[in-house]
Amino acid sequence: MSGGDASEGQLGLTFRPMADEDLTAVMAVEVEGYSHPWSQDIFRDCLRAGYHCWVLQVGERLVGHGVMSVAVGECQILNLCVHPDWQGRQFGRRLLRRLLAIARQRQADTAFLEVRRSNHPAIHLYQAEGFCETGLRRNYYPKGQGREDAIIMAKPLVNLLAD
Ligand SMILES: CC(C)(COP(=O)(O)OP(=O)(O)OC[C@H]1O[C@@H](n2cnc3c(N)ncnc32)[C@H](O)[C@@H]1OP(=O)(O)O)[C@@H](O)C(=O)NCCC(=O)NCCS
Repeated sequence: MSGGDASEGQLGLTFRPMADEDLTAVMAVEVEGYSHPWSQDIFRDCLRAGYHCWVLQVGERLVGHGVMSVAVGECQILNLCVHPDWQGRQFGRRLLRRLLAIARQRQADTAFLEVRRSNHPAIHLYQAEGFCETGLRRNYYPKGQGREDAIIMAKPLVNLLAD
């Protein structure tokens, strides 16, 4: 299924920039979404740094967020999270596409991200959206008592065949 089948209005979806006032609701999604969630301070730092921090709402309910940095022609997807109760409805795909559209507007030509090797839902999403594995950071993430590799993925944002 592609992410654009039903309009966002029909689904009651709102994408909007994250604000400090959202951080309690963002953290509620974050701690449910990840085994090793970011702290509220990390989100605050991202907002202060001017990163592209967006939230997705269904009606009044904040159900997902995405954070991206864009600099020197590259974007880094730093966080993409949908509350488990709302996963599997193409919301992650819509959030990702939103972030990549912003990156293109900001003249980024390549998108990068890192993902846990065991995170199959996320890897499937990224592959389906045109990301390819470009590298590995061994033992990058904490996992239980040990560590887990990060897969580095990249996607070109420009059509190399276009003028
Ligand atoms: C990764 C994540 C953002 C995906 O969001 P989502 O809204 O559930 O995903 P979508 O419904 O948009 O699915 C889009 C694609 O993702 C993949 N996908 C999603 N859930 C999957 C699952 N459980 N198993 C396999 N693939 C899955 C599929 O390719 C799917 O495409 P399809 O529906 O055409 O088959 C979500 O699982 C999440 O928030 N996980 C916790 C946080 C996280 O790990 N973020 C990624 C950090 S790198």
